[in-house]
Amino acid sequence: MIRVKGIILAGGSGTRLSPNTISVNKHLLAVYDKPMIYYPLSVLMLAEIEEILIISSPEDVNRFESLLGNGESLGISITYQSQEKPNGIPEALIIGEDFIGEDEVTLILGDNIFYGQGFTTLLRKAIKQHEYATVFGYRVKDPERFGVVEFNERKKVVSLEEKPDAPKSDFAVAGLYIYDHHAVDIAKHLYPSERGELEITDLNKEYLQRSQLNVQLLGRGFAWMDAGTHDSLFEASEFVKNIQQRQGFKLACIEEIAYYMGHISQRELMQIGNYMAKTDYGQYLIDIANRKHIEQYWDELDLHPMLEVTEHE
Ligand code: TTP
Repeated sequence: MIRVKGIILAGGSGTRLSPNTISVNKHLLAVYDKPMIYYPLSVLMLAEIEEILIISSPEDVNRFESLLGNGESLGISITYQSQEKPNGIPEALIIGEDFIGEDEVTLILGDNIFYGQGFTTLLRKAIKQHEYATVFGYRVKDPERFGVVEFNERKKVVSLEEKPDAPKSDFAVAGLYIYDHHAVDIAKHLYPSERGELEITDLNKEYLQRSQLNVQLLGRGFAWMDAGTHDSLFEASEFVKNIQQRQGFKLACIEEIAYYMGHISQRELMQIGNYMAKTDYGQYLIDIANRKHIEQYWDELDLHPMLEVTEHE
């Protein structure tokens, strides 16, 4: 049986966030009340992925390890590998070759934040129905900054371009990709672009040429942000703060997700909460551990419809 594994790419140089990133890896900076990497990690966990590889620079890998360990406290497996230099996103697939093996992989960029009612359901479905390669398109005001996907009238992809001067559509490709294991081989045969990096758009183009590229559109009900500049990091923090304060639940709370997904027990959740009891974060975990009838909270995490998808298919 093919398993779906997850890779979080958390290396890079983070130059746009300097001086914050001179001695701290970008993905360890806070997005409001938790480290940035919690956001992509929660996406993979909600998608039911239980084997995760985190890739970062050689000097930072152990910092992620001291934050997340081997994943046991979240009831999942987390392993680590390093990327010598930021040689491009597709290199994650080459580094992760042994980890991926013959399985499928969901690759997510460590500074990408996804949020929206139904997102988990959508991602779970995309993974379940997945063949070859699936990417996610999102309408943006400034497509020239991204990989851009063009469709014909039947919503079929006709072209992909990296940071085009004259974008053929407003749809950017988000930092979340699902691939079969052939992606490793394709990545190995890519050449660096003019900026000296392997380009994920080139890898996706290869799938497109083989008529094996699926694009799933994320509609206006979804938020997709990257937290790679001072302004976008600040905006992402504000976004998270506003939603959390308004609605009283936390986004990307990995311990809460682990609990609701049945990876950790009520006692284990309580222990983690007690460890951070002086913070609002810790109190939140304690409150959850004290809740009765946890099924009534599934909707908040999008878990309820997700379980239905799993059961009925
Ligand atoms: P970018 O935002 O393109 O680059 P960066 O993080 O190095 O930042 P800056 O442009 O400010 O110098 O990277 C997108 C994401 O992918 C980010 O989370 C870092 C990660 N990444 C790697 O881990 N390795 C790489 O080789 C590249 C290109 C990116």
